[in-house]
Parts: sequence; C-alpha cells; structure tokens
Amino acid sequence: MPLTVPAPIETPRLVVRQIAEPDLPGLMAVNGDDMVTQFLPYATWRSIDDAAAWYQRIAGIQATGNAVQFVILSRDDATVIGAGLLFNFNEGSARAELGYVLGRAHWGRGLAREAAGALVGAAFGPMGLRRLEAEVNPLNQPSVRLLQSLGFTREGLLRQRWVGKGAAYDVELHGLLRDEWQQRGT
Ligand SMILES: CC(C)(COP(=O)(O)OP(=O)(O)OC[C@H]1O[C@@H](n2cnc3c(N)ncnc32)[C@H](O)[C@@H]1OP(=O)(O)O)[C@@H](O)C(=O)NCCC(=O)NCCS
Repeated sequence: MPLTVPAPIETPRLVVRQIAEPDLPGLMAVNGDDMVTQFLPYATWRSIDDAAAWYQRIAGIQATGNAVQFVILSRDDATVIGAGLLFNFNEGSARAELGYVLGRAHWGRGLAREAAGALVGAAFGPMGLRRLEAEVNPLNQPSVRLLQSLGFTREGLLRQRWVGKGAAYDVELHGLLRDEWQQRGT
C-alpha cells in the first residue's frame, strides 16, 4: 500500500498540503537561496528549469508510494513559504523519514515548528505511522533545535554517511515514536 496522502492541514498561521506543479514558482524563492540549500541534498535552484527537474524527480518518487511531498503556505494570503516531505516509507514497520525547508525570510518565527508539528500529527494520525526518523547534519543547529522541540530523540551519529557539495559529512539520526508524540499531547 502506498503512503496515504492526508487532507490539507490548517494550523493557526499555515496550510500544509500535498504539492502541485503550480506551486513551483513560489518555491523558487525558497530553494533559490544558497543559505537555505546549504544542508539540503540538492543544488540551489537557479532557474524555473531547475524547479521543473526537481518536480519531475519528486513526482517519480511519489508515484512509487514511498513519499509525499508537501508545500507550506501562509494561511493569510496562500503564499508558498516552504516545503515538507515524508519519504523512505517502510510499510511493514510503519516508518518514514521527515524533511522540511522554509524560505529564509520566514526563519525564527516558530513557523517550521508549526508546519513540522502538523506533518508529525498527520503522520501519526491519518497516515498511520508508528515511527518517524530525521537525519540532520550536526552543523545545522536550527534543524537540531526544531527536532528537539518536536520531542525527537537523538539516537546516534552516522559518520561520513553522505557525500554532498564536495565533502563527506556526518548526520545525527533522530527518532520519534507515535506513543511519545501522543503522550506529549501536541
Ligand atoms: C531548519 C529550519 C526549517 C528551522 O527553521 P526555524 O525558523 O529556525 O525553526 P522554528 O520554526 O522552530 O523557529 C524556532 C525559532 O523561532 C523563534 N520563535 C519566534 N517566535 C516563535 C514562536 N511563536 N514559536 C516558536 N518559536 C518562535 C524561536 O525562539 C527559535 O529561535 P532560535 O532558533 O534562535 O532559538 C530552517 O532553518 C531551514 O529552512 N533551514 C534550511 C533547510 C534545512 O536545513 N532543512 C533541514 C534539513 S535536516
């Protein structure tokens, strides 16, 4: 069975829903920024062609049923401010991996916490998952803090796990269980 696509989620300031192709121009402002993509596994978008190539790749992964790509929109004016991803779905273990990105103009306001919290709630609710994982470069402290604020546990350090942007880098593996999330009541 493919990963379930949840209905659009509304939070106090945001709407989080599955991506559609018309969202790409809005995402240019997010991913067309070297500071934003520094720790992400893809190059900064330089043109709408880069966005289209990324979308084709994401559409292919979504078609396997192993991932759902989301966009994060401002609830006020429906501006695209970021994206979220549930991927590497393992049906037998009801497990998936979480990813997120916000445009730089939107950092430092608790919006990533709000969006990622909505995705975690959907993952452990209508999507029926039991465990979420996130890999984060320890140098990416805003992301580490976000995972901690969501209740993730740092479970280990995977040394030189990836090569990207010309260098090998470590990642911390963080994990969150459905029972832990439900006990927090958030
Ligand atoms: C990772 C990322 C999404 C985190 O965004 P963020 O805005 O720092 O995260 P939050 O939404 O949780 O905001 C937390 C910050 O907002 C502040 N804040 C302000 N108002 C707030 C509110 N109402 N609620 C919560 N926090 C608030 C907090 O104090 C905190 O600041 P601090 O980090 O200086 O302590 C962002 O840095 C990003 O997009 N990075 C590039 C992509 C990336 O690296 N993704 C992760 C790959 S693993």
